[in-house]
Amino acid sequence: MKPSSAHPILCVGLTPAVQEIRVFTAIEMGVVNRCLSVHHCPAGKGTNAAHVLKTLGHEPVLTGFAGGATGALLRRELAALGIRTAFVRTLARTRVCVTLIERDTNRATELVEEAALPIFQEWKTFHRVFDRLIARAGLVTLTGALMPGAPATLYGELARVAGARQVPVIIDSQRTPLLEALAQHPLLAKLNVHELENTLGTAITTPPAIVAGARQLLARGARNVLVTRGEQGAWLVAPDSAWHYSSPRVRVCNPIGSGDAMTAGIALGLSRKQSMQEAVRLGVACGAANVLTPMPGLVKAADVKRLLPKVRCRRA
Ligand SMILES: Nc1ncnc2c1ncn2[C@@H]1O[C@H](COP(=O)(O)OP(=O)(O)OP(=O)(O)O)[C@@H](O)[C@H]1O
Ligand SMILES: [Mg+2]
Repeated sequence: MKPSSAHPILCVGLTPAVQEIRVFTAIEMGVVNRCLSVHHCPAGKGTNAAHVLKTLGHEPVLTGFAGGATGALLRRELAALGIRTAFVRTLARTRVCVTLIERDTNRATELVEEAALPIFQEWKTFHRVFDRLIARAGLVTLTGALMPGAPATLYGELARVAGARQVPVIIDSQRTPLLEALAQHPLLAKLNVHELENTLGTAITTPPAIVAGARQLLARGARNVLVTRGEQGAWLVAPDSAWHYSSPRVRVCNPIGSGDAMTAGIALGLSRKQSMQEAVRLGVACGAANVLTPMPGLVKAADVKRLLPKVRCRRA
């Protein structure tokens, strides 16, 4: 691995979003509902990972697509957080995802907009930008689903280009886009149990079944596989070993984005020359720290530091 200061972690988040949070007393369908307050923040899985890396003292580079007035807002907000971006400008505007919160009941309703498919020229530019960025990167994270209509071979192609430059790949995705990338031997394939079920097309309920499922992904080319299961922790499986990590118990505020925070922690550990086993420990601490805050991708460095010694790891 290349030195981390000169060679940043490259976070690929193809479908970033502007997240709008609208707070109401209560919402009733079919009538006028007046908003108490509106907040917005940058969102998306790659964005979350980059935000956690930045919080923990690394200077990542975030790439993907952004366009229109919402794309400009996204860039401005990421710049305000000090996160370096190399987005390809699109004709289509960046999507807006809305969370409706009802104060009376604390109920949250998500309204998710899909990202538009980039046009041919934008894809061409993206591949050129990726080639340029990967030449300087110390590690690359490929996170999230592809936008509807994108070629399922995309992550496989990006992993191939990274591999040709000896840049380690962490991929956090599922189904065909993940399977396509496994043939390029990513350093780590990371997914939650539900995504493992979707990818293998079988129900997986027990820890031995999780380890067996992970071994199927190893057989398809991954060097290491990490399967996560929220508060139940995670299983790290390599060709000659299997480990279970238990996550520290934490007060749950919002668990969404814990997987992204975990990806960031692992990438950071690896870029600091830790072993995979140690890096995953940092990842688990980041996942747990994310649970403590209301916004996905928002962790406090002090929480990560406090939780790290509480992560337990034993043979699975
Ligand atoms: N409620 C929780 N309590 C403690 N640790 C948690 C909790 N939820 C998540 N974690 C930690 O974060 C890791 C990743 O969480 P999870 O399995 O929910 O990822 P995910 O489904 O990929 O999340 P997302 O896609 O929303 O980022 C877990 O393996 C665990 O270590
Ligand atoms: Mg996830």
